Amino acid sequence: SPEYKNFYSVPLPIAPIKQAKKTFPNNHTGGIINYYEIDIKPVEIQIYPPPMKKARFVGYDGSIPGPTFIQNKGEEAIVRFINHGDRSSSIHLHGSYSRAPFDGYADDITGVGEYKDYYYPNSQNGRTLWYHDHAVDHTAENAYYGQAGFYILRDSYESSLGLPDGKYDVPLALSAKYYNQDGTLWDPEANGEKTSVYGDVIHVNGAPWPFMEVEPRKYRFRLLNTGISRSFKLYMEDAAKPGTKISFTVIGSDTGLLEKSIVSPDLYMSIAERWEIVMDFSQLAGKNVTMRNTPSIAADIDYPGTDKIMQFRVGRSVSSNDGNGNVPSALRTVPYPPSKSGIDHSVVFQHDGGVWNMNGVVWSDGVDARVLAKPKRGSIEIWELINKSGGWSHPIHIHLVDFQIISRTGGSRGIQPYEQVALKDVIWLGPNERVQVIARYSPWDGVYMFHCHNLIHEDHEMLAMFNVTFLED
Ligand code: C2O
Ligand code: CU
Repeated sequence: SPEYKNFYSVPLPIAPIKQAKKTFPNNHTGGIINYYEIDIKPVEIQIYPPPMKKARFVGYDGSIPGPTFIQNKGEEAIVRFINHGDRSSSIHLHGSYSRAPFDGYADDITGVGEYKDYYYPNSQNGRTLWYHDHAVDHTAENAYYGQAGFYILRDSYESSLGLPDGKYDVPLALSAKYYNQDGTLWDPEANGEKTSVYGDVIHVNGAPWPFMEVEPRKYRFRLLNTGISRSFKLYMEDAAKPGTKISFTVIGSDTGLLEKSIVSPDLYMSIAERWEIVMDFSQLAGKNVTMRNTPSIAADIDYPGTDKIMQFRVGRSVSSNDGNGNVPSALRTVPYPPSKSGIDHSVVFQHDGGVWNMNGVVWSDGVDARVLAKPKRGSIEIWELINKSGGWSHPIHIHLVDFQIISRTGGSRGIQPYEQVALKDVIWLGPNERVQVIARYSPWDGVYMFHCHNLIHEDHEMLAMFNVTFLED
């Protein structure tokens, strides 16, 4: 990309909150159903200053990231996604146990000019979900061009904990892109990219290396990596004392609150992972705090700006102390699956002949070949995920379920403290690592996907399925 001169000069954008178009009573449950419409459409954004050109994106409602949904547990939602973009779409609500027809199955595509209505039950515990494109062969481009947004599910238990809320609860979507010399967006598809698009321009909520003005108090940050190939190891530092990490408190993962809060100096964050932290700026009034990235993470290529993420400019006064108390050390009772022994399925992730495969199977092998597991509905299974592709990382996402990480071996890092007290739906499988994850395959039967969430790998066929079958008794 062209050299970027003014780091931390653009204010952090915050996506609009999506408003329901209509609300219906559900006479069966006594609850309500919120109905929304989202228009997938192009938008031009000035990333580099004029006279360089604007870059063209295609986003949900033309917003990058898409508008944020805020949902209350127990209120159902129907979202009509109308495709006025450039390519076919399929929408996955990542983190939801949606029924299979509404899960964004890769071949269930909506053409340009068409729409599809998706139903979301919103009956899981509070968590940070996100919605993004999942169209077969084109997920990477669609996500890179901006089709990703937050979907926050709240529940009353979580709200009772007194965590930072309202303007002190801030979603931060990280990604990385390349630009052409004229300021337009570099296109991975036109350039025939088949391995990874790391990007040298880091974006937060769609803006390059932005800044945010904060008060000297606690904030909740909902971190999400919407990038297509880049992983991060994040830390915070006082801009006046480079290299001195300021610890924060990790409180949440992909599936909501951790069992207990974990103070950490840094955070591994691969693609599609959500980690929630509470950052306390109270001792940092008047200072600049920088969110940084650690160089040399797995195979990721470093560039001059990729060790920088964004900056917080800490003011001198606090306008409200709501949600500014101590973060409880015990956060919730996490419904870990009961333990069992034995490995039910082993899946090897490899690169061979220019394509990325799972147990030698690729998506285009067809429906029968690509079903790699058939768990009985309600059963507990241990899956072993094995990285035999050399130096590459594979963030592996299993749809439908929340899983517990029971081991990570083969690499140098093991399970991180915050991973030990969490349920997850994405696991970062680093170079030469082998992980075991345990989950209950429920509540629905049906065919679901699991895959690498490096979206270039996914589009180049590291995408397979499992079939949850009905348990007869
Ligand atoms: Cu976030 Cu199958 O995707
Ligand atoms: Cu991969």
